[in-house]
Amino acid sequence: MKADILLGLQWGDEGKGKVVDVLTPNYDVVARFQGGPNAGHTLEFEGQKYVLRSIPSGIFQGDKVNIIGNGVVLDPALFKEEAEALAASGHDLRKRLVISKKAHLILPTHRLLDAAYEAAKGKSKVGTTGKGIGPTYTDKISRNGLRVGDLLKDFDQKYAAAKARHERMLKSLDFAYDLAEAEKKWMEGIEYLKQFQLVDSEHLVNNLLKDGKSILCEGAQGTMLDVDFGSYPFVTSSSTVCAGACTGLGIAPNKIGDVYGIFKAYCTRVGAGPFPTELFDEVGAKIRALGHEYGAVTGRERRCGWIDLVALKYAIMVDGVTKLIMMKSDVLDDFETIKACVAYKVNGEEIDYFPFDINEGIEPVYVELPGWKTDLTKMKSEDEFPEEFNAYLSFLENELEVPIKIVSVGPDREQTIVRYEGE
Ligand code: GDP
Ligand code: IMO
Ligand code: MG
Repeated sequence: MKADILLGLQWGDEGKGKVVDVLTPNYDVVARFQGGPNAGHTLEFEGQKYVLRSIPSGIFQGDKVNIIGNGVVLDPALFKEEAEALAASGHDLRKRLVISKKAHLILPTHRLLDAAYEAAKGKSKVGTTGKGIGPTYTDKISRNGLRVGDLLKDFDQKYAAAKARHERMLKSLDFAYDLAEAEKKWMEGIEYLKQFQLVDSEHLVNNLLKDGKSILCEGAQGTMLDVDFGSYPFVTSSSTVCAGACTGLGIAPNKIGDVYGIFKAYCTRVGAGPFPTELFDEVGAKIRALGHEYGAVTGRERRCGWIDLVALKYAIMVDGVTKLIMMKSDVLDDFETIKACVAYKVNGEEIDYFPFDINEGIEPVYVELPGWKTDLTKMKSEDEFPEEFNAYLSFLENELEVPIKIVSVGPDREQTIVRYEGE
């Protein structure tokens, strides 16, 4: 059996949580492969709304196995908060969730360092989620990290050494802090974590595949936030692309099946950094209002703009996307015209590829399409789609050269339309 991957093609928040939940019945296992509590994956069903940060979005569907892979960075305090909230609403994760011993731990001092680095950057700050993501991955790559498996042996010594090193760094950055409360919560999180199955998840994943079990790998963030291929340095610190699922779970490339690439019918970004199609006018404000474009975890206002096909084609290329999923189509229900960026103008010259630097001087070149001016939210099948919406889908498929297999027309699990079924 091969593992499928679902990942974001834009700057995150495409709706990954919703679709993973929708697709979970088709799989035996759902596994997160990178990122950490910087993610906020929203699921809505039966009138309830849940936001998951570190826990895979397959957790609500029956007795599926959910895995937090080695590529993930885990904050025990936030994990405890998240898992306890789910337990309180009747979802006991202990039997259904396993955690890789090789996942790295986010320490309270990593969060402080995140804040200190942002403060030191001043105006050029990244606008991180403040969850300690960058410093934790930095420690991983520089071979200084603490892993979940370290809980099982000489943990106190290892923690003390890492903390002392971080405190020296904070001092050199002249960063004032009080660690006591956060550290207390974190230690409680560490104890809580010990109740879970801490495993060598690369063995588990490969044995499951060998036994014919199907796995869906759930990405966090999006390709434009990838540390290599995103809008560097305004990116996150992990590999959000398809290859991240291989390193983040220990799955070899020849065991990867479909790659689902998910995008919004328009585009958003939260935090700083370039965004060629960003709208600063009332159209952008209208998209924000209709799409409720505010961060799932931080509540931060998301920047809004038209769809960027130059960036999307690039993402599809580096991810090897085989099937597309378009989200939040309903948000554009009430627009006379819809624009799609098909090329960039750089220094007066038109280019149709994603360049090295999109940080300045990019002017989007748009194609305009008629809006559908129809409520899509109650539609159940593609047969009901208005002509203009079908024309938008065909236009996108033609440009992107990958079929759009799923269309989402609202936040609820039920508001999902699978196209060309059986093909
Ligand atoms: P993720 O991080 O990729 O899982 O996405 P988020 O949960 O951060 O943001 C997506 C937001 O859009 C959430 O509030 C979802 O409930 C909502 N959403 C998902 N799909 C749709 C859709 O088709 N239409 C509308 N209106 N909202 C949607
Ligand atoms: P999901 O999984 C949108 C952004 C931050 C910031 C940059 C770096 O919900 O799509 P970090 O804290 O990772 O060091 O921040 O990345 N960012 C996200 N934006 N959705 C996310 O996750 C994000 N996770 C990080 O806003 O610009
Ligand atoms: Mg999100």
